[in-house]
Amino acid sequence: MKILAVESSCDETSVAVVEDGRKVYSNVIASQIDTHKKFGGVVPEIASRQHVEAINTVLKEGLEEAGVKLSDIDIIAATKGPGLIGALLVGLSAGKALALSTGKPFVGVNHIVGHVCANYISFKELEPPFVGLIISGGHTYLIEVKDYVDFTLHGRTVDDAVGEAFDKVARSLGLAYPGGPVIDSLAKKGKETIEFPRVMIKEDNYNFSFSGLKTAVLNYLNSAKLRGEEIVVEDVCKSFQEAIVDVLIEKSFRLARETKRDKIVLCGGVSANSRIREAFEERGKSENIKIFYPDLKLCTDNAAMIASAAYYEYIAGKVDENNFANPNLGL
Ligand code: KG4
Ligand code: ZN
Repeated sequence: MKILAVESSCDETSVAVVEDGRKVYSNVIASQIDTHKKFGGVVPEIASRQHVEAINTVLKEGLEEAGVKLSDIDIIAATKGPGLIGALLVGLSAGKALALSTGKPFVGVNHIVGHVCANYISFKELEPPFVGLIISGGHTYLIEVKDYVDFTLHGRTVDDAVGEAFDKVARSLGLAYPGGPVIDSLAKKGKETIEFPRVMIKEDNYNFSFSGLKTAVLNYLNSAKLRGEEIVVEDVCKSFQEAIVDVLIEKSFRLARETKRDKIVLCGGVSANSRIREAFEERGKSENIKIFYPDLKLCTDNAAMIASAAYYEYIAGKVDENNFANPNLGL
């Protein structure tokens, strides 16, 4: 079953053709990062306009690269939420219009579920159940994936998402947007010289909080400036990143132990982080838990993961008829 999917929830316009949820024929991604860099973050109105400009070309490229015609496609899918409303509407309207004009079934996909499914593309043998940690610019969820379409939410951030914390800390250090990859590479040259808080690490729940950590970094920078102390950016990056890694590891492995799951699956843009990957692998070895994370291209937003999620929803007969764009769609 070949699915053509569209993703436009934030600042990437993407179209993919994927067969049976795992075999990628094409995954074209037009990124707007260079435009938003100037503003230090995504500007929603500009994002919507750029999606409108890009969508037809990306749709054409998605089919061409796959070497298929629209008539070869069985199902059309698009992200319906969560995300920026204006951005979502562009891809969703394009997908629905294609489905309507060709008479093919349409599946509206939850972007968060899509991130999880990116792993099915990278690991052909991966199957639920497992513990899932979704860490992106907009979301931080700790879940149990009991089956392809059966999720139990155990924890989430009570304030900033992990990626948001990376981006905001990078901004306060004067680093480029998106800050995650920049912090990741600078931290490799740094030492953990500053003790930042591991917020909520001991709390008896699976929630996270990253806004206090972000403030702690800001306070450190301000007081170091006042005292005229040298700020070693690499050390700040390393110390901040280690604080993030510790809480993510502690809560994810605790959930795996308590639910007796032997796999932890990472996904979302922040799962591209080299230190997070390494630390999960190390701990996984000592606790006999297998760690999965998608190929780098599949960590950040892309339509192949949306096609994969659409496939599993469709074959489970769980297609939701309500395909309105929903910026606040939960799990
Ligand atoms: O999943 P994604 O593309 O978009 C959302 O759905 O939010 O994630 C983007 C986020 C940004 O905050 C970016 O800074 C972060 O992923 N990111 C990283 C790395 N690469 C991307 N964070 C930490 N380390 C990285 N290597
Ligand atoms: Zn995303």
